Amino acid sequence: MPRSLARTPPAWAEAMVPFADELLVEQAQLEKKAASAALTFLFKYPDELAFARPLAELAREELEHFALAVAELEARGIARRRLPPSPYAERLAAWLRAAEPERLLDALLVAAMIEARSAERMHLLAVAMREREPRLAEFWQGLVASEARHQAVYLGLARQRFGAATVEARLDELFAHEAEVLQRAAGMPRLHDGAVPCA
Ligand SMILES: [Fe+2]
Ligand SMILES: [Fe+2]
Repeated sequence: MPRSLARTPPAWAEAMVPFADELLVEQAQLEKKAASAALTFLFKYPDELAFARPLAELAREELEHFALAVAELEARGIARRRLPPSPYAERLAAWLRAAEPERLLDALLVAAMIEARSAERMHLLAVAMREREPRLAEFWQGLVASEARHQAVYLGLARQRFGAATVEARLDELFAHEAEVLQRAAGMPRLHDGAVPCA
């Protein structure tokens, strides 16, 4: 059983450079979705009092990221348009168990996974774009620390609520599931599509 995140090869980010504009359009969508996901926890689990402050703060940061992405799109003269999402989040969501409180645990872990994968790939994009798109490289690198912190927030809440041992055991299963999801790449230029989707 894998004990950690499967690493994205840097070739993925190289293959994404020609799609820099599209990734930025997608990022505005993803940040908005991330804010909404944090709010959904607050609406769905109002009795989880420990969630309120960290997730309110997290949602606020995601909205700030959304505004940053929109500003970057405007600065570059890129029209925002609705892009079909990669199947990544939906395929991860299919892994959630139906009954509570297992569903809550799984949802927190999937949220942490998406944040972790985002941080990893944003850093790879920043490295790949450093020479050719220095301003965009800075945009991507500017988000990395925050998304990595979000991962820690979701994992921290999961450990607090369910205990470390339960979290670690279920995380192993999620790592395995996520690796499988990424192997079934949709071949789209998206932050969370497969390892080398656009060679
Ligand atoms: Fe974000
Ligand atoms: Fe985030």
